[in-house]
Amino acid sequence: MGNGIAQVAARAGYNVIMRDVKEEFLQRGMSAIDKSLQRDVDKERLGAEEKSAITARIKSTTNLDALSEASFVIEAVTEDLEVKTALLKSLDQITRPETILASNTSSISITRLGAATQRPDRVVGMHFMNPVPVMKLVEVIRGIATSNETYDKVRQLTEKLGKTALECNDSPGFVSNRVLMPMINEAIFTLHEGVATRESIDGIMKLGMNHPMGPLALADFIGLDVCLAILHVLYDGFGDSKYRACPLLQRYVDAGWLGKKTGRGFYEY
Ligand code: CAA
Repeated sequence: MGNGIAQVAARAGYNVIMRDVKEEFLQRGMSAIDKSLQRDVDKERLGAEEKSAITARIKSTTNLDALSEASFVIEAVTEDLEVKTALLKSLDQITRPETILASNTSSISITRLGAATQRPDRVVGMHFMNPVPVMKLVEVIRGIATSNETYDKVRQLTEKLGKTALECNDSPGFVSNRVLMPMINEAIFTLHEGVATRESIDGIMKLGMNHPMGPLALADFIGLDVCLAILHVLYDGFGDSKYRACPLLQRYVDAGWLGKKTGRGFYEY
């Protein structure tokens, strides 16, 4: 999602430093940005010169220290508490004290992430949806210590990115994934129990509920490992068995069938 966030920020006129751990990940990110912008050039919604100007505003680097000059940081690293807290601790050291540190986490507690820093009032959740250039929502999550000033700045930034900010308090899965993941998990249970085929399950939800994608296709799109991690956060956070992950989801993740990104999930790609 990081490249999608970099793209919308650069398109809104911001200078962006896109940082990743390996050069090949940065190249993959830049090529995703190029492909996404090219769609708009082909549809005559963006000029070729404008496209070049947008990509020129994105500097890619593997050097974390390059973020010292950033006035706003949005992290979108892997959905793992330890990885995120370690990164936030480093960012807390590197960046200017007034810099807001936003996390694109889909379910990890913003309060916990904030507590890993010396600036919990400037730590906030900025949860973008996939595909980032298309989806209008940013779920803005306030940790227990997030200040009103930080929230207002995030709301203004979200609007400048052409998106809508909707506020919610810190709670497992926030609103989006607390509602979405039980639906996806239940769809996997219906497949697991042989209630219907994958095509029927997805077709029923697409045609019957007017969803753009069926829940199994959506799970593949999000990543089955991500879905499983979010279900674990819900299960642990609420201590309620209704969030237990379907064994079939666990088995697919164990097999490395993580959805679209690995070429196989509930569907083949
Ligand atoms: N970059 C730029 N534009 C893109 C794009 C991308 N990566 N992917 C699709 N688009 C654009 C297309 O150009 C097209 O634009 P126009 O209609 O304006 O010409 C439009 O999006 C629709 O694309 P397609 O016609 O190719 O395909 P589609 O109609 O099937 O739409 C979809 C694709 C937008 C992904 C749609 O299926 C959809 O909305 N799916 C549901 C997505 C969703 O639920 N996302 C949230 C997931 S949850 C999450 O992200 C958070 C989490 O924590 C797990």
